Amino acid sequence: MAKLKVAVFISSRGSNMQSLVRASHDADFPAEIVSVLSNNPEAAGLKFAAENGIATHVIDHRDFETRADFEAEITRYLESAGIELICLAGFMRLLTADFVNHWRDRILNIHPSLLPAFKGLHVHERAIESGARFTGCTVHYVRPEMDDGPIIAQAVVPILQEDTADALAARILEQEHLIYPLALKLVAARQVKIHGNRVLIENPDEPRAAMIYPHTEEA
Ligand code: GAR
Repeated sequence: MAKLKVAVFISSRGSNMQSLVRASHDADFPAEIVSVLSNNPEAAGLKFAAENGIATHVIDHRDFETRADFEAEITRYLESAGIELICLAGFMRLLTADFVNHWRDRILNIHPSLLPAFKGLHVHERAIESGARFTGCTVHYVRPEMDDGPIIAQAVVPILQEDTADALAARILEQEHLIYPLALKLVAARQVKIHGNRVLIENPDEPRAAMIYPHTEEA
């Protein structure tokens, strides 16, 4: 089967993009990272992409009068490059409903909480302050509402008593780097089906392929 052609959108560091690129180097990985797109010409991740032989493209939102014009240029570029799936990876621009609906079921996002808890910004501070024992990260299909949409993969991360937002963010980021390649692999291998707001995994080898959680020793 032909590999799914993917564009990864970043705004700065791009460590999740790097995890997707590294996973895609495996000959059996069912997706190819064709392009890394950034709204920010200074995004550090662009250098890594270029060094790895991936086309980089900057579409600076500040060059456009309206969000619709900015997004029209993105769609024009993606369609000319034959992109089939968008992976948002720390892309810090909200996308309009028109854009999201145009690319319906063809945009994934990663968010550093166990959605539907803690949508939006400052998630680690909010998770600690909430008193919750666990948080984590989520890869989901994108819908017009922010941080909303059918969930593909999640990893659970404990909140420790001495945690700071930075320490927690770093532990969650390690898990992000595992679940994003996992989710992309399942999607690109066409092993997921969307049923309403649920994603069913049809992976014959491992029905729990999209779950990472702290294991306790079996008695
Ligand atoms: C990641 O932690 C990602 O989950 C988060 O931004 C960081 C980007 O890091 N995304 C969001 O908060 C989106 N709502 P990266 O540039 O190193 O991948």
